[in-house]
Amino acid sequence: MRLPEYKKPKRVIGWGEYKGLRKFESIYDLPEEATEVLLKLLTVQGDTEFASIEQHLPWLLNAPTLSDRVSISRIMVDEMRHGWQVIQILKEFGDEGRKIAENLLWTRMGKHKLDAFNIPFNMWEDTLGFTFLIDRVGLYQLLAFEDTSFGPLARAIPTMLMEEEFHINFGYFGIKKLVEEGKKDLAQALINKWFPRGLDMFGHSKSYTIDLAYKYGIKKFKNDELREMYIKDVKELVTPLGLELPNPNKNRRIF
Ligand SMILES: [Fe+2]
Ligand SMILES: [Fe+2]
Repeated sequence: MRLPEYKKPKRVIGWGEYKGLRKFESIYDLPEEATEVLLKLLTVQGDTEFASIEQHLPWLLNAPTLSDRVSISRIMVDEMRHGWQVIQILKEFGDEGRKIAENLLWTRMGKHKLDAFNIPFNMWEDTLGFTFLIDRVGLYQLLAFEDTSFGPLARAIPTMLMEEEFHINFGYFGIKKLVEEGKKDLAQALINKWFPRGLDMFGHSKSYTIDLAYKYGIKKFKNDELREMYIKDVKELVTPLGLELPNPNKNRRIF
């Protein structure tokens, strides 16, 4: 996938029922239903940021090379900053937002909302499989939020997108290197392990929350649309490496 230039957010809502109107700049501008949707989506987004820090943590000390350690530390700092940004936005939602923020900080492995974030990195190479495939889902989710109708969130997205690009490239080049070193089976095993969890992260095909998110200009793509874009992207990356994309319906938990 060729990534677009991330543009400065516009001042008007780009899609849905409120298209063309000024963006919601404070929670007092938001319709009640839109507030609920935003809180739901921000909870999941924030949870993934903090969860991935927990997953990366052991490899901050144990990554195989100095340069790998530097990359992991940079990824962790980026994810921490994303989590911080989500928390700042949540705090705008008064007591309810602050309660969610507090919960996010104390949620640990096994309790995270999405399965991909409840899996520890048992070997260094999980770091590569994860950033290649799971951070990539994160990037697609952020693309769906790009120019979102809630102003404070819209302004946070472009930097997050740029940082996610670094994470997914780190993963891709790591997987490519494994293949070049003759560890094709390992690279394939990592794809088989993380790809289904990545696909699940897009959520159910029929989701009322996402319908509402579109209606209020919060997210611009439906779950299936994003999932299809992701599958195409990953396929184009793994095929030239001689790796196979597992059947997208295999080992899935969420359809
Ligand atoms: Fe992130
Ligand atoms: Fe990331």
